[in-house]
Amino acid sequence: MNIQPQDYPLQDVYAVIGNPIAHSKSPQIHEMFAKQTNQNMKYGLLFSEVDDFEKTVQDFFAAGGCGLNVTVPFKNRAFAMCDELSSYAQAAGVVNILWMENGKLFGENSDGLGLVKDLMGESDNLKDRSVLILGAGGAVQGVILPLIKAQVASIVIVNRTFEKALELVNRFNTEAEQVGAHLGALESHWIENLDEPFDIIINGTSTGLTSDSPLTSVQASHLAMICETKEKTVVSYDMVYGKQTAFMQQMQEQGFVVKDGLGMLVEQAAVAFQLWRKLPDSLSLDTNLVLKTLREGL
Ligand code: ATR
Repeated sequence: MNIQPQDYPLQDVYAVIGNPIAHSKSPQIHEMFAKQTNQNMKYGLLFSEVDDFEKTVQDFFAAGGCGLNVTVPFKNRAFAMCDELSSYAQAAGVVNILWMENGKLFGENSDGLGLVKDLMGESDNLKDRSVLILGAGGAVQGVILPLIKAQVASIVIVNRTFEKALELVNRFNTEAEQVGAHLGALESHWIENLDEPFDIIINGTSTGLTSDSPLTSVQASHLAMICETKEKTVVSYDMVYGKQTAFMQQMQEQGFVVKDGLGMLVEQAAVAFQLWRKLPDSLSLDTNLVLKTLREGL
């Protein structure tokens, strides 16, 4: 049932808006953050019919709502509604966080930052790491700038449709050059010609929602072969959570360490929470505890 800000006059009210939305773990995550930091707030679900998204957002803020997380399929429409956008939101072209300030609607994108923070938990530091990203759609667009800012050495974007990978490389080349990172685009068939190993392989395609993998079994074993030379563990990451995807299965069979996107979900929520509640950066939320609790409930 949709949360109504007027039902909680003594609390700051937040929600996640999407369609569908009942499955969302965001209320659970934000409730745990609120407990950790003693915040007097309420976080609920907001379902919107596809045609009514803009009105649902406007009504929520008009009723005193303080902030929204935005999920599928509304992230690009949320972007279009904003009066002010952060640099990450502008780079991503979609937003997952909305809030009002001085009558203006602000938008931020913390999905990419969430991914970077989750990956950092794995290896402390992304500096000088080489990253292979599969996919060049909306999800990938949001992670390129945060990865560049984390000073990775290189990002190779592989996509079925080469032009889309190339378009992303052209879009982010200036930022990459500024930190000395190398950006490259590749059409999927060329994976078998790669000969340099990677530290991190990310599936950012939408195949997680189906039973497909973006890699053929020959490509997966080729990646395992070239990455064998790495002394450190090579992480293979799927942005999807709550299920074992075909990509995860394939990479596990090839001996990679496999991670799902649940940590990314928790970390992007932590960014939203700190931003909304104006908490100092020094106050760190215990995202590991939240992640552990969620995993126990899966
Ligand atoms: P999202 O917002 O989830 O990123 P999107 O913008 O539609 O969704 O992008 C989907 C991405 O997954 C694209 O990179 C798409 O490849 P194409 O650009 O060639 O369409 C990729 N994708 C979807 N299904 C795929 C499949 N079966 N194999 C490989 N890539 C796939």
